[in-house]
Amino acid sequence: MNRFVFIFVLLAGLFGNYAACAQEPIVIKFSHVVTSDAPKGKAAEYFKRLAEKSTQGKVRVEIYPNSVLYKDREELEALQLGAVQMLAPTMAKFGPLGIKDFEVFDLPYLFPNKEALRRVKHGPVGKMLLKKLQAKGLTGLAYWDNGFKVMSANRPLKMPEDFKGLRMRIQDSRVLDAQMRALGAIPEAMVFSDVYSALQKGVIDGTENPPSNLYTQRMHEVQKHVTVSNHGYLGYAVIVNTKFWNGLPAEIRDKLEEAMWETTLYADRIAEEENARALDAVKRSGKTQVHTLTPAEAAAWRARLLPVHAELETRIGKDTVNAVKREIRRLQ
Ligand code: LMR
Repeated sequence: MNRFVFIFVLLAGLFGNYAACAQEPIVIKFSHVVTSDAPKGKAAEYFKRLAEKSTQGKVRVEIYPNSVLYKDREELEALQLGAVQMLAPTMAKFGPLGIKDFEVFDLPYLFPNKEALRRVKHGPVGKMLLKKLQAKGLTGLAYWDNGFKVMSANRPLKMPEDFKGLRMRIQDSRVLDAQMRALGAIPEAMVFSDVYSALQKGVIDGTENPPSNLYTQRMHEVQKHVTVSNHGYLGYAVIVNTKFWNGLPAEIRDKLEEAMWETTLYADRIAEEENARALDAVKRSGKTQVHTLTPAEAAAWRARLLPVHAELETRIGKDTVNAVKREIRRLQ
C-alpha cells in the first residue's frame, strides 16, 4: 500500500473516530429518590427537556427516579465518585457528608412564609451555603422547592403530648432528631425508599413530609391520621460532580445553567400546587383523616419546638443561623 493511501486511510480512520466521538452526547445521569410525578421528579423531567433542547442533543439527561439506581446515602457517594453526574437531595441529607450548615433549613418554624424562604435560598446566603460543597468535590447549582411538612401517624396528632413514645421516621438530620425528641417521640433515621414498608409493617409509627411526598409514596394508605402543621420546610439543593461540571465545554455549561435557572422557577411555581393537589387527594381517598392545627394547638407546638434552634445552633454554625435569620428579618 503506497504511503499516501496509508496516510489517507489513517486520517480517515482518525476523523471517522473523532466524528463518532464528537457526536456522542454528553450523558448526565440524574438519580433521585422520589417518584417522577412528585415535585422534584417533575422538575428533573423539565430540566431534561430544556437541557436536551437547548444543547441540540449534545447533552442527554438520563433520569433514575425512586431510588432505582441509588438510595439516599449511596447517591452522594456515587456523585463524588462520578458514577452519576447530578442529584437533588434535600438539605437534610448533607450532615453525613460533614456539611452541617444545610440543617439550618430543618429548624422548625424558621421561615414565616415562602417569600422569606426564597430570599434566603436564591440570595447571597443561599449562594454562600452552596459554596461550602466545593470542599467535597461537589458544585451546588440551585435550590428547588417542595414545601412545608405535615405529620402523620395512626393516631391523631393535635397536641405535642400526642407524640409521646411514637417511633417517627426522619431524614438523617440532627435537627430533625432533636425536633422529634422535643415532641416526646423516638426519632428513626431511615432512607426514603424504606419508609412505606416500615410504616406498613409497623416498624415505625409515623413520619413527616410535604403532602406531595406522602401521597406519591402512598404513605396515606398506611397512616390513619395526617396533621397539617407546616412545622418545617423540605427543599432540595441541585448538585453536580465538580470535575465533571468544570470539564464541560463552556458553551454547554452556559446552556445547562440557563436551563437550570428556568427549571428552578418552574419548580418553585409547581411546588405549592402539587402539595395542595396531593393534600386534597389524601382527603378524598377516605383512607386518612386530615386535621389542621388550631391556633392554640399551633402555639403549643411552637412553644415545644422553638427551643430546638438554640440547642442546635452550635452544630449548624452560629454564623449560618444568624445569616439566615438576618435575611429573614431584613424585609419583615
Ligand atoms: C425524604 O427522605 O423524606 C425526602 O427527602 C425525600 C425527597 O427527596 O423529597
